[in-house]
Amino acid sequence: MNILVLGSGGRESAFAWKLSQSEKCKNLFIAPGNAGTGQYGTNVNIKVTDFEGIKQFALANAINLVLVGPEEPLVKGIHDFFLNDEQIKHIPVIGPQAEGAQLEGSKDFSKQFMERHNIPAAASKTFTRETLQEGFDYLPTIGLPIVLKADGLAAGKGVLICLSLEEAQQELIEMLTNAKFGDASSKVVVEQFLQGIELSVFVLTDGTNYKMLPSAKDYKRIGEGDTGLNTGGMGSVSPVPFADAEFLKKIEDRMVIPTIEGLKSDGISYKGFIFIGLMNCGGDPYMIEYNCRMGDPETESVMPRIESDFVDLLLGVAEGNLNEKELIISNKVAATVMMVAGGYPGEYLKDKAMTGMENIRDSYIFHAGSYVDGDVIKTSGGRVIAITSLQNDMFTALQQATADAARIYYDGMYFRKDIGFDLL
Ligand code: AMP
Ligand code: GLY
Repeated sequence: MNILVLGSGGRESAFAWKLSQSEKCKNLFIAPGNAGTGQYGTNVNIKVTDFEGIKQFALANAINLVLVGPEEPLVKGIHDFFLNDEQIKHIPVIGPQAEGAQLEGSKDFSKQFMERHNIPAAASKTFTRETLQEGFDYLPTIGLPIVLKADGLAAGKGVLICLSLEEAQQELIEMLTNAKFGDASSKVVVEQFLQGIELSVFVLTDGTNYKMLPSAKDYKRIGEGDTGLNTGGMGSVSPVPFADAEFLKKIEDRMVIPTIEGLKSDGISYKGFIFIGLMNCGGDPYMIEYNCRMGDPETESVMPRIESDFVDLLLGVAEGNLNEKELIISNKVAATVMMVAGGYPGEYLKDKAMTGMENIRDSYIFHAGSYVDGDVIKTSGGRVIAITSLQNDMFTALQQATADAARIYYDGMYFRKDIGFDLL
């Protein structure tokens, strides 16, 4: 088979690494990819939102399957684009159509979905510029802190946790009337704050059948001890000790099954990943959000734990017989440390030469933001490279990933040295 992966981050590096191991994968292409994906396949210089360019490439290269990494092309309807075009409608796309992608693309849509299908979540209401006064009346009723969420995609920045009522009032005005996040905040979800520990749960579905992939914990803050600004994710660990069989069963019964059944009863066809971001509140799971794709940097810890042929699983999604496929998950522990550029998550350094990769002892290297310049690999993104170690126990995995990260150098290099140690 010829497979095209869309995206250019650490998630797509981990996908490319895993797909390239399958006997079913003949040619692997990644658009646009990065210095790491180029080791497992051929990078193609096409943007993930250039649907026409992707179509032409797919036709010219006899692509048999498209795996979509990030949310943007899904929310913008890449799957519908394929289905609506006679020339490419036969090529399966892994990732939901625009309607299903609303689970991530619109917080209001996803909150209504959770409510309609009785999925446990924080109390919330949605407001617009026209209903600002009602929003003001609602704010004091849900306790502090108050969570404000821009309805649409806002590059991961659309969630505000306000510590005082005054701050929440001010931010609500900023979002609704001053378009703080542009169009994305023309609707705002005001939500109760959930106290607990977060978990990322991943489901692969063909629309009828599903498999629960390994779950993971993500570390979002830039600073050690979970301090400082939010980032795209500074590291991840899988499995997560508190997500034991009993807790996962609660998630499956209260969230996964109602989600799959809810999509069906709403008439939404969904083939792809469902990422459930949830809070463990005293042993009970509460939904924070859905994403319509895999997580990054969770994928870097999840892929190495999947022992089955990943291409075969994706074929199960495409062909609607995922129930006939076997998912074997390793008992080993994967730890991922994300190395970032100096300055990230603010304005960050770029084009810095990276050295030391040959000194990595026992970890995978998943590039996230890098490119090849002659015979040098240089940084290009805020998140530069993920170091993932798969070991028999958590302590060894954490220690090895952290030690191996320290073997790589570039100007401004930074990574957290405490990823996962809170779980021991
Ligand atoms: P998002 O941009 O939707 O991924 O949300 C960013 C982060 O905000 C989440 O990963 C949580 O850490 C936090 N968050 C969102 N909603 C809530 C909530 N209701 N209670 C507590 N934390 C939340
Ligand atoms: N790591 C969180 C995300 O991918 O959204």
